[in-house]
Amino acid sequence: MRKATYLCPMAEDLTIIQGSKEEIYQSLIPQIKGLLQGEPDLIANLANVTAALKEQFGWLWVGFYLVKPSSEVSENELVLGPFQGPVACTRIKKGRGVCGTAWQKAETLIVADVEKFPGHIACSSLSRSEIVVPVIRNNEVVAVLDVDSEALDHFDETDKKYLEEIVSMIPLSLKGELSFLL
Ligand code: SME
Repeated sequence: MRKATYLCPMAEDLTIIQGSKEEIYQSLIPQIKGLLQGEPDLIANLANVTAALKEQFGWLWVGFYLVKPSSEVSENELVLGPFQGPVACTRIKKGRGVCGTAWQKAETLIVADVEKFPGHIACSSLSRSEIVVPVIRNNEVVAVLDVDSEALDHFDETDKKYLEEIVSMIPLSLKGELSFLL
């Protein structure tokens, strides 16, 4: 019998560093690139990106919502994907909450104080600030990356810049899982 030659990254393979936000992202990005290399499966890749971010930053919640057909109406909605953190709401409509608004506007939203964001959807009472980054392919939002922090005003332009770079690295073919968006 042939032996499988798949290489499996181990938790210890991820180098966690201390330093400025800039330095941390610069250390993490090539490692995430390595995790994604050669792997076409969307869920596997979203799961590892989520795990790497959680491991390095220790944020309260980090995960993806995917644009998918609604179970009830004809419009698409966001459906919970791979994440790390407390259990979360499973479906979010376009324009609702921070995630649904980032999807509608197709732009990254930084919310310094979630209590001041009208319509914020609280999945955990511990969340105080949030950043939501849309994943865009062929000019369409196909998913969003959502990150929550227990600290007020935790996210800034550095997080926006690097998280946008990270989501742009995810191999995402619209011919695969999200082909209905075409
Ligand atoms: N706070 C988000 C909902 C998702 S959870 O935070 C995981 C929102 O307002 O869209």
